[in-house]
Amino acid sequence: MTILVTGGAGYIGSHTCVELLNAGYDVVVVDNYYNSVPEVLNRVETITGKSLKKYECDIRNREGLEKIFAENKIDAVIHFAGLKAVGESSRLPLLYYENNISGSVVLFEVMEKFSCKKIVFSSSATVYGNNPIPYQETMTTGDVSNPYGRTKHFIEQILGDVYTADNEWSISLLRYFNPIGAHESGLIGEDPNGIPNNLMPYIARVAIGRLPQLTVFGGDYDTKDGTCIRDYIHVVDLAKAHLCAVDKVLNGTGIEAYNIGNGVGYSVLDIIHAFEKASGKKLNYVIGGRRAGDLPAFYADATKANTELGWKAEYGIDKMCEDTWNFQTKNPEGIK
Ligand code: NAD
Ligand code: UFG
Repeated sequence: MTILVTGGAGYIGSHTCVELLNAGYDVVVVDNYYNSVPEVLNRVETITGKSLKKYECDIRNREGLEKIFAENKIDAVIHFAGLKAVGESSRLPLLYYENNISGSVVLFEVMEKFSCKKIVFSSSATVYGNNPIPYQETMTTGDVSNPYGRTKHFIEQILGDVYTADNEWSISLLRYFNPIGAHESGLIGEDPNGIPNNLMPYIARVAIGRLPQLTVFGGDYDTKDGTCIRDYIHVVDLAKAHLCAVDKVLNGTGIEAYNIGNGVGYSVLDIIHAFEKASGKKLNYVIGGRRAGDLPAFYADATKANTELGWKAEYGIDKMCEDTWNFQTKNPEGIK
């Protein structure tokens, strides 16, 4: 079976390629390297001892995508390619709509043309907006406060319409919570360009000395210690959820959404303390003001993924922090 992985050189995509190769799938990656480097895929090959097929191509490039489908018999697609910076999406909404939505539509059209109707899509817990916690798949979605989140909601809706029009499609919408951690080899991990927006890569860069200080965004929330609560999930657990979802889409039709989280909420201070323990370093941080758009607390009810996909997260925050630190110390300047 051959799986096309869009955005396969990225953080979650690269870890998923490792799991797919280890499980015996043939893997074809398409990435434009906007937020990644080709070396990541060499490292995936080093980890697994297997090779994958690589195409440098933008998913908005219809001809390029058609060439990939013509050259390979693709059985299913895992669609990671997209831009993901929440703050940037508010400054550059059209870039996000163009890249994420137009790119996805081109991909779905090319899939249809080549009669490949099986897809796993990277969605996000952000689609739940201001719902009560824990989030459940039956809740109404779409009350989202930024363009990035809206692209995820719209693409979910588009795929819903695609399935309504043609019941031969088989679609899994995976709503990720907060992926952190790295492959335990330390060869691949999260390596954002510029100053990180997300908590864990920021912490790791402060600990290694590339950034002077972490600012905790808000210490006055109505939570156990005043800082925001999130559901952190090890990226390898998340990658394994894609294996289960691929198996599901290959063996049936329909459209289903799944929460992919641990079901446990940790505060920002919990993460800082776990990271200090894993790294043996005292982290330089201050409590600052709230970040616009942050919700006080959310975490997953992942029962549906447990029962229907047969998937369950295995790793806790200690392992997430240890693997992040291992990756950071082995790649102090990132992956070149
Ligand atoms: P990432 O930026 O590391 O990976 C995305 C990859 O897609 C990159 O390699 C990038 O170069 C590529 N890409 C972007 N636009 C492209 C295009 N038009 N054509 C071809 N390649 C393109 O991000 P990630 O953290 O691995 O996230 C993967 C997916 O999961 C994204 O869709 C993201 O929105 C979603 N997601 C991520 C998180 C998170 O916290 N990391 C949470 C929820 C959902
Ligand atoms: N935080 C800080 N300081 C920082 C960065 C983050 O205190 O420098 C805090 C945030 O306020 C938040 C928590 O750490 O309370 C986690 O923040 P992240 O930016 O790492 O993650 P978010 O929960 O804001 O967002 C993530 C992804 C989004 C996705 C969302 C829901 O970045 O793409 O989870 O899945 F939409």
